[in-house]
Amino acid sequence: MGTVQLSNVRKFYGALEVIKGIDLTVEAGELVVFVGPSGCGKSTLLRMIAGLEDVDYGRVEIAGKDVTDAPPAQRGVAMVFQNYALYPHMTAYDNLAYGLRRAGLRRDAVDQRVQETAALLQISELLPRKPKAMSGGQRQRVAIGRAIVRKPEVFLFDEPLSNLDAALRVEMRSQIARLHQELAATMIFVTHDQVEAMTLADRIVVLNAGRVEQIGTPREVYHSPANLFVAGFIGSPAMNLLPATLGPSGVALVSGHVLGGQKGEGEAVTLGVRPDRLTLTSAESAHLSGEAKLIEHLGDETILHLRLADGGALTMKLHGDILLKIGARVHARIDLAGACLFGANGRALRLEGAHETKA
Ligand SMILES: Nc1ncnc2c1ncn2[C@@H]1O[C@H](COP(=O)(O)OP(=O)(O)O)[C@@H](O)[C@H]1O
Ligand SMILES: [Mg+2]
Repeated sequence: MGTVQLSNVRKFYGALEVIKGIDLTVEAGELVVFVGPSGCGKSTLLRMIAGLEDVDYGRVEIAGKDVTDAPPAQRGVAMVFQNYALYPHMTAYDNLAYGLRRAGLRRDAVDQRVQETAALLQISELLPRKPKAMSGGQRQRVAIGRAIVRKPEVFLFDEPLSNLDAALRVEMRSQIARLHQELAATMIFVTHDQVEAMTLADRIVVLNAGRVEQIGTPREVYHSPANLFVAGFIGSPAMNLLPATLGPSGVALVSGHVLGGQKGEGEAVTLGVRPDRLTLTSAESAHLSGEAKLIEHLGDETILHLRLADGGALTMKLHGDILLKIGARVHARIDLAGACLFGANGRALRLEGAHETKA
């Protein structure tokens, strides 16, 4: 089964270094998601694993073999792209069969593999059709089928769901999760969508500007972000990042309220609080007060955006429909259990009194 090992992998476009020394081991059968903002190097890194981009420094190993300079066809990988990349003049059947025929498989063996794959993906009835007679979701399933049919060591997906509408994305997402279980295959899945990352991944690799910011399970990157970048990137609505100091009685907000927890001698820190770790309270027991600027009623929950007295912003996620008007004065209390603390260098500090999360 296919492990993938990257050792100090670097890539330049001209003088521009776009992959800045990445070390990563993907275990056999693992589903690892690369997530990060547009332009951070996700596709480049995936294409380096696939053999579609040269590796300028470092080593790529697949299934224990050094493939750093091997052509794509000799790596045992199959890649699925955002824009399907099917042969337009061929039926779905021929699109699936093409690579197998070229590899010299006999006609009945080809037919068996194509039919099995089609059944797995529930696309048997599409086999006689050409791509133009299929919806986007159907085309993408055929494209995934074309990867599966080859029985690769490793599947590489580059934003395969980004061209699909919202409902279809959710459906295809669960299909990919199901495939991962049924095939027990090694998969690397690239997305800029952190919900996709959180729901699919065994482990998430958070990338930013060609570097790894954190590698961890979805729970780890969500509950224990390694730094301010991960804290702000993972989670929607985003974590509130509040300026604070460590005083003799613990974490002190700009408003003067002291929350307890870590003590210090005035060090500047950032307190990270998820929007659902804030509750409405009275003026007397408030840690933060502000004015309602935007209220999003989502039915089962309400997202409340506040402007704080110091000019900062605060987002609260409240259960149910909350009856509040724009301009209303709102008082909030922070639940320190579940909050995160970051030092002046942006790195996570251990917050005393916060809950411990285990993966
Ligand atoms: N062929 C290329 N020539 C020059 N720069 C490139 C090329 N391909 C990608 N880049 C640059 O490399 C960086 C990473 O790109 P990419 O891997 O496509 O990011 P992502 O997939 O995370 O959006 C970007 O700054 C992009 O502009
Ligand atoms: Mg990309």
